[in-house]
Amino acid sequence: MCGIVGYVGPRQATSILVDGLRRMEYRGYDSAGIAVINGTGVKIRKAAGKLSALVDKLKTETPDGTIGVGHTRWATHGAPTTPNAHPHLDQTGRIAVIHNGIIENAGTIRKALQMRGHNFKSETDTEVLAHLIGEYDTDNLEEAVASALWDVEGAYGIAVICSEEPGTVVAARNGSPLLIGVGDGEYFVASDASAILEHTRSVVYLDDGEMAVLKRDGYRVRNLTETHVEKPVNQIEWDLATIERGGYDHFMLKEIFEQPESLHNTLRGHLLEDEGTARLRGLNLSDDELKRFDRIIITACGTSWHAALIGEYMIEEMARVPVEVEYASEFRYRNPVLDDRCLVIAISQSGETADTLAAVREAKRRGARAVGLVNVVGSTIAREVDGGLYLRAGAEIGVASTKAFNSQVGALAMVSLRLARLKNLSVLQGRDFIRALNRLPDQIKQILDRAPEIERLATKYHKAGNCLYLGRGVNFPVALEGALKLKEISYIHAEGYPAAEMKHGPIALIDENMPVVFIAPKDAVYSKIVSNVEEVKARKGRVIALVTEGDVEIAKLAEDTFTLPQTHDLLTPILASVPLQLFSYYVAVLRGCNVDQPRNLAKSVTVE
Ligand code: F6R
Repeated sequence: MCGIVGYVGPRQATSILVDGLRRMEYRGYDSAGIAVINGTGVKIRKAAGKLSALVDKLKTETPDGTIGVGHTRWATHGAPTTPNAHPHLDQTGRIAVIHNGIIENAGTIRKALQMRGHNFKSETDTEVLAHLIGEYDTDNLEEAVASALWDVEGAYGIAVICSEEPGTVVAARNGSPLLIGVGDGEYFVASDASAILEHTRSVVYLDDGEMAVLKRDGYRVRNLTETHVEKPVNQIEWDLATIERGGYDHFMLKEIFEQPESLHNTLRGHLLEDEGTARLRGLNLSDDELKRFDRIIITACGTSWHAALIGEYMIEEMARVPVEVEYASEFRYRNPVLDDRCLVIAISQSGETADTLAAVREAKRRGARAVGLVNVVGSTIAREVDGGLYLRAGAEIGVASTKAFNSQVGALAMVSLRLARLKNLSVLQGRDFIRALNRLPDQIKQILDRAPEIERLATKYHKAGNCLYLGRGVNFPVALEGALKLKEISYIHAEGYPAAEMKHGPIALIDENMPVVFIAPKDAVYSKIVSNVEEVKARKGRVIALVTEGDVEIAKLAEDTFTLPQTHDLLTPILASVPLQLFSYYVAVLRGCNVDQPRNLAKSVTVE
């Protein structure tokens, strides 16, 4: 989604801004622009399309100046054109604004400003905000921004510069992530730490309602009423290598191959084999509190929602606590029944997904305890929940979530184990589960070593127009996730279904052109899924089956099979998802798709 970067210091701003925007390309965007101040006013350069279009423009007309702001825009208000690209200027052309989020009352403000003689050059809510700030500006940019923000409703992360204050960047946040980078005699603002990581690892995370004023000799955080708010400086632990491709063709492939390590990191330090349980101090919940919950709601979006569904199977099976899984976007506007005996678990890779964040706030407002399973350290959800676990999967740059998904499932497995041991799971069963968890990283590695087998399958099936994914029990969500991975990066229409549900409708689609991927490990529902495979075969469907090593029955029926190492029934999703990730990756590459930045998608969905 949109990216913000800003700079003030002794160096030329343009290249710092462009490099920062490049680092945020993975978030998804459709136009880009920068504004730089020098002695002759605000210089704006912007272009629709990829960053390379802006870079081409800059080759002939690079603005000089040591203070500036840059933006990648993911269109919400108005088409992805150059006039709609940020930065936007106020009526006088002195003030430049970049903005992530949506100003909900922009229409009303626009009309009022038009009546006062303002002319707009774009369809954006951001230009409205720029004009509003311009109206308030007499000689103090900081106060003008603060005054304008009192009038604004909606979500924003903004950075503002003004040619009459050529040493100041003003930033503000409400509902859209923003951080300050503290360098040596230079300061940055960014919506994503990756934009500034090559310059500094010291960051200050802004909270909603806060502003920051950056000058060459220092920075100050404030809010709309108080001019000084004390904030801690945090150190970012990951380094540049984690956000670079490291020899892989795409981030997605790199992240799929990182899974033995990323899953190991998720589990590391939590599993107590002797006691057959998991130590999850981050949840901030005592054993008595955990035992008291008589219901759990897991809320998330997209791939994280699929992980949540797997969590539902795990927790109910192991701990016998009723679980509901809710799309965060639905949960936030429903009237959910919540009380203090209900635990809400929010799952998010980015920790910034607007719907999931709103669901957390709603859950807390209604008196429930909310914990988070979040990957990005210091993200908004991580800071707002009552407790939680960091996934420790490392930076995930590819838009299609892969390693974070398996870390989410790993974290849910640990939550299930902890709850189950407090209820009726024996220490021996707990130990078995831990041993199975600990074997997973090596088993994933064995699967990855056989990536060429999957590549061959992709070569065979990559021209398909549709694809069906079927699974049962805990592997039904894996079918959903397999289908999502395929459609989002290869644009092949794909659907996931519980295998038995197929005969209630989707079976009509099956003919000799339809690949049907079965997730069919040797588990409690194996014999049932064999019947479903027969049903597809009878209609000439092309069956691709993921089966457990040693399986012969399905292998006889399927056109192609891929074997999975043996594991605990509830942990098969972690192994089965890996070949499905590889399959979508290779199919997308063969179809010439932009794997890391699929069309219309954004890595972190910070608007509703
Ligand atoms: C799909 C994908 C998305 C995200 C969803 C939630 O590959 O990545 O469906 O899972 O946008 O994002 P997070 O987990 O950051 O809240």
